[in-house]
Amino acid sequence: MTKYRSIVILTGAGVSAESGVATFRDSGGLWEQHKIEDVATPEAYKRNPQLVQDFYNMRRRFLDTVEPNAAHDALAKLEKGYAGRVVVITQNVDDLHERAGTHNLIHMHGQHRQVFCTACDKTTGWQGDLSVDHICAFCRAIGTTRPDIVWFGEMPYYMEMIDDALAGCDLFLSIGTSGTVYPAAGFVSAVRRLGKAHTIEFNLDASDCSAQFHEHRHGPATQTVPDCVHQLLGEHP
Ligand code: APR
Repeated sequence: MTKYRSIVILTGAGVSAESGVATFRDSGGLWEQHKIEDVATPEAYKRNPQLVQDFYNMRRRFLDTVEPNAAHDALAKLEKGYAGRVVVITQNVDDLHERAGTHNLIHMHGQHRQVFCTACDKTTGWQGDLSVDHICAFCRAIGTTRPDIVWFGEMPYYMEMIDDALAGCDLFLSIGTSGTVYPAAGFVSAVRRLGKAHTIEFNLDASDCSAQFHEHRHGPATQTVPDCVHQLLGEHP
């Protein structure tokens, strides 16, 4: 399987599930416990910034308690060992891909460990809790710093770079995503329209976009992803 020149990998919450990070839409998922319109929209933040900051502070703190799993590790190993180009586009806002060693990584929905100031637009790395009366280190504005998370109704990041990567790939892997949130849910059809890439979906079960993939690998990502990486690196006969 070393015949591919450019591999694009889309990941979703399922890749981090076995690290203990809750997915969004599985049973017991985050959106069963919190309403999107209360914590994950610009309107929610305007209405109740404290509630929104508390939600993201809790999730940011939780990252200290989890570790990358075998699927994250395998993708980092693929990037390091594969002769062609490998890029990971993640919808996840955790930092498990980078902690596993993936460098060529696009966080299209933002990152827990980053915040930005709506007054001066400066972004900065962030580890602890963020308060509603935080003073921006760059412009000194008070209470204008928010989590660097793409909320519902906001534009995902790096779309031009992503479109280029999708247009140039000849293998597209989608791992642990329900295929319900656009634009990511539309990546497989964008790739298929160009007609030159093989597409494989990795999920526990069929997702909303399963029918659009050439191939499916069902099972936990910690098993299916390392198996695929072995194949791509020619480690299996
Ligand atoms: N291995 C493989 N797949 C898994 C595993 C696992 N161990 N555990 C769960 N999954 C699959 C589920 O079957 C489901 O299809 O991962 C998917 C997770 O789907 P969602 O919870 O909807 O997460 P995701 O697709 O990443 O959500 C997209 O929605 O709320 C927004 O911004 C948020 O980035 C997120 C976006």
